[in-house]
Amino acid sequence: MKKPVLSRVVQEQARVRTPLGQSIEAGVDPAKVISFASAWADHESPALLMAKYAEICADRKLFHSSGGYTEPLGDMACREALAEFERREMGVDVSAENVAVGLGSTQILHNALVALCDPGEDVVLFDPTYANYYIQMVFALTDPCLVKEAGVTRSVPGAEVAYLPVLDVEQWRYMPEPSKALARLEELCKVHNPRMLLFQSPDNPTGQVVKDKFVGGALELCEERGMFLVINMAYEAQLFGDAPKYYSLSPEEHPSLVTIHPNNVFGHSLGRRFGWLVGSKEVVEAVGKVQHATALCPDALHQMAMTSYLRASVPDGSLRKYLSESRELTRKAADAAAEAIDKHLGMRHLKPDGGIYTVMDVGMDSEQFVADALRNASVLFAPGKAFGNTLERAVRVSYGPFVNDHAKLEEGFERLGKHLSKKGK
Ligand SMILES: Cc1ncc(COP(=O)(O)O)c(C=O)c1O
Repeated sequence: MKKPVLSRVVQEQARVRTPLGQSIEAGVDPAKVISFASAWADHESPALLMAKYAEICADRKLFHSSGGYTEPLGDMACREALAEFERREMGVDVSAENVAVGLGSTQILHNALVALCDPGEDVVLFDPTYANYYIQMVFALTDPCLVKEAGVTRSVPGAEVAYLPVLDVEQWRYMPEPSKALARLEELCKVHNPRMLLFQSPDNPTGQVVKDKFVGGALELCEERGMFLVINMAYEAQLFGDAPKYYSLSPEEHPSLVTIHPNNVFGHSLGRRFGWLVGSKEVVEAVGKVQHATALCPDALHQMAMTSYLRASVPDGSLRKYLSESRELTRKAADAAAEAIDKHLGMRHLKPDGGIYTVMDVGMDSEQFVADALRNASVLFAPGKAFGNTLERAVRVSYGPFVNDHAKLEEGFERLGKHLSKKGK
């Protein structure tokens, strides 16, 4: 029997690190572990959204239609409801034709990468950045005919991912001089001639909002060079201060600009696979072509429930109220995490502008620190290395799971503080 071999891109992956390598180790009781490594917030979803799902499931006709395919880009009613949400709640000038619905933002980003970049084309990411991007680039941009070696960059077979450092590890500040970051971006563009710059704001892992000054300059550069600027808005609903100006730019006026949106606007909803992309009509049509091949269409039940929920909750203001309450809960958890770190660890950390994470300088190899904290204090963090070289000696702290349980959050840092001070003696 001739055993079939796996694809070359998958075999190649065996040699590369996984995004977040840390798992619960043997000998550690998982029930005792306090995890700051999870990527979700514990907000309850709006009761009205739950009721909309129940309504569909209780009605034979509605349930029957939730089993039908929709258009590859999503049902027009859903795209319209999302466009109305973007216009009224997020201040973005868009129409339904600017919206593509997908099975979560991970899948829709894959579609966007395939639709907007040719295999082998380079992409610029921030360092640090969302840990999943690299592997996504591998699967979307692989050109098996070309395997380049990486220098300061990491190689996707056929393409290279160029990293723009955005954390000043000496001062422990995020992009302290946007003009310097822009100059560095320009240099990277000259060397790599990339097709895309991709980042998120507020950021995972740092919780920082990328400033208007940088994004304005980066957009100009992208427009000059014919590049796409893709901003992942994963944490747009958990922004603690005012929205930056680029949040409301129109994709028709700026066809280089594309934004992607996971489902975490609506509480603990990420497992209900739904997300959307906003871009020019041309970009959206292109994404639809890929979607046809990768998913046929987004999930119909989620689209129906979301459409019905948005149609009610945007005009009556209940969505705005829900968002403001969950934002407040998140901000309080961010403050509680900062206080607990200062009190029990005294380590440097960033003050988040939004989102559910911050990063903390642990002053040693992040993987060793994480393994020691897990083994000896039953506290788990995501090692900074997974997000980029700038976080080699740092960890990501996720306070999202503790929005309703500050006591547990404090217990985690207290336990770790006690372990570290015993170790130091
Ligand atoms: C920056 C970022 N993008 C995307 C995702 C995942 O999005 P989705 O569930 O829509 O695929 C996450 C989840 O942690 C994230 O932090």
